[in-house]
Amino acid sequence: MRTETKHTAAVYALALSALLLLATACRQDMHDQAKYEPLEASSFYANGMASRPLIANTVPRGFLREDTVLFTGLDAAGSPAAIYPQASLAERIPGAGEMSEKELWGLLLKRGETRYGMFCTPCHDPVGTGRGMIVQRGFKSPPSLHEERLRESPPGYFVNVMTEGFGQMSSYAPLVSPEDRWAIAAYIQALQLSQHVRLAELPAELVHSFGEAQNEAPADAAEHGSEGHGEEVSHGADQSGEI
Ligand code: HEC
Repeated sequence: MRTETKHTAAVYALALSALLLLATACRQDMHDQAKYEPLEASSFYANGMASRPLIANTVPRGFLREDTVLFTGLDAAGSPAAIYPQASLAERIPGAGEMSEKELWGLLLKRGETRYGMFCTPCHDPVGTGRGMIVQRGFKSPPSLHEERLRESPPGYFVNVMTEGFGQMSSYAPLVSPEDRWAIAAYIQALQLSQHVRLAELPAELVHSFGEAQNEAPADAAEHGSEGHGEEVSHGADQSGEI
């Protein structure tokens, strides 16, 4: 009786392993199905290539990029666009279609802030001076976004740098959608203003609050001693009226 039970157990075990083996074989079949890997050679097509060339004068679905300004930042003449393609942006950002112009700008700047934080701060740092963590670890230092040349660049220029890459900086087009590249450009312009606005350009209520901040500044500077804070404060008090 006992040996019989053992025997049955052995048969079950065998049957189970056979089943398991079958199951793996089945899985392998799914893995090794007939398909071409990217750029693999093919004996089926006359030119020996498995990847088929695009058919002339056709555009794959979802790849129509007629709106050059939106996608590249360049206008019809090939110069960086100075005007935001607002209508296309409103169309592409979810929920933006029903927004007022002011709300749309608020949303753009918010999107720009988060995307700048994700994709640009590692090198350009949060303020845009080009001392991000990757640079501190030895990568080429980008120019400060507050340089006069870049302060005077139109937003399309930043979009174009992100789209095509620039020198050692690679293209961000595969990672950042065109609407978000424009949002980042808007945020960069806000960053630039944050470091370099003329008092006369500020709305009255902000000039007022800036005046208050300035009154507090000397105490702050004294607290921090010669750490460089004092320098910023004296900059603010500059005769030219620039912050
Ligand atoms: C991995 C580091 C790195 C990241 C991340 C990065 N950049 Fe750069 N960026 C650079 C470097 C380095 C340069 C200078 C390239 C050169 O001169 O070879 C540069 C240059 C620039 C310039 C100046 C171009 C000029 O005319 O001098 C702009 C504008 C710019 N980057 C914007 C961005 C924006 C916007 C992002 C985020 C979407 C970004 N970068 C992300 C490294 C980076």
